Amino acid sequence: MIDLAVIPVAGRGTRLLPLTKSQPKEMLPVAGKPVVQYVVEELIRSGVHRMLFITGAGKTAIENHFDIDNELIDSLRATGKEELLAELAFEREDADYFYLRQRRQLGLGHAVLCAEPFVRGQRFVVALGDSIIGRGSESKIVKRMVDLFEKHGDVKGVIAFEEVPRDEVFQYGIAQPGRDHGEFFELDDIVEKPSIEDAPSCMAVAARYVFSAEIFEYLRNTQPGKGDEIQLTDAIRRMVHDKKRFLGVPLSPVETRYDIGNFESYFTAFTEFALADPTYGPAVRQHLKKLLDR
Ligand code: UTP
Repeated sequence: MIDLAVIPVAGRGTRLLPLTKSQPKEMLPVAGKPVVQYVVEELIRSGVHRMLFITGAGKTAIENHFDIDNELIDSLRATGKEELLAELAFEREDADYFYLRQRRQLGLGHAVLCAEPFVRGQRFVVALGDSIIGRGSESKIVKRMVDLFEKHGDVKGVIAFEEVPRDEVFQYGIAQPGRDHGEFFELDDIVEKPSIEDAPSCMAVAARYVFSAEIFEYLRNTQPGKGDEIQLTDAIRRMVHDKKRFLGVPLSPVETRYDIGNFESYFTAFTEFALADPTYGPAVRQHLKKLLDR
């Protein structure tokens, strides 16, 4: 059973400065909740209950967020604000939280490698802490990926992919899909940030992975690449070249990926989530409509 998710949240988030100067990008609000709460709720809904955060300098707000805050609960009760207790229900979700520090920000691949002593040979999920999949945490992508992994004994990794417009492929890790099985495809190769002409497809890596512990061996032997960082995609690529079987799973149409790593997609995600809010959405919609009609 795959019950552990590694959630890297140690990156500096420089593309969101000055917002991220003294707060983690994973704690930025997207309508009513911080990004990383959506990620955790999605994982719990997919049957993953142990969360291992790879944290770093300036990220303690994440630990505080998932703690049970009895002082706050008592104070809400004492001041007659019981109705707000529902907003803290996530603290009591059926999940365990663990924290490890990435002491130097050497890239996503290095952040995952930091989890090795904890993972101890298990199979595990990796969910990027700055990316939401699907509004309202309705995505079951991780569950589909875990099921596939468990069904195919020879598989070493399963990766979520999202179809992106051709003129955006140079921003992502892009799949070279092999045989198509409908619900998933064989991953023949993966290319990091290809040019538009060279891209083997428009399927971009979408922030969710399932790995066997063999990935650590490859990460340990991965040389720093772009920006002097150890790239997760490089390790995956070398495994695929060594004929280790990887599967790709496309996101379904309701499983849009919201990347909170740059301003354009952060603003878009915030607007979309605010519009979908059952309480405040209608008023926001009216206001936006007025602005757009002007
Ligand atoms: P990004 O690739 O967006 O990198 O991280 P970044 O360093 O956070 O952001 P920029 O490029 O400076 O704007 C994707 C995910 O991987 C984590 C981040 O916290 C984010 O959730 N990450 C990245 C780490 O945990 N450690 C790292 O060294 C880099």
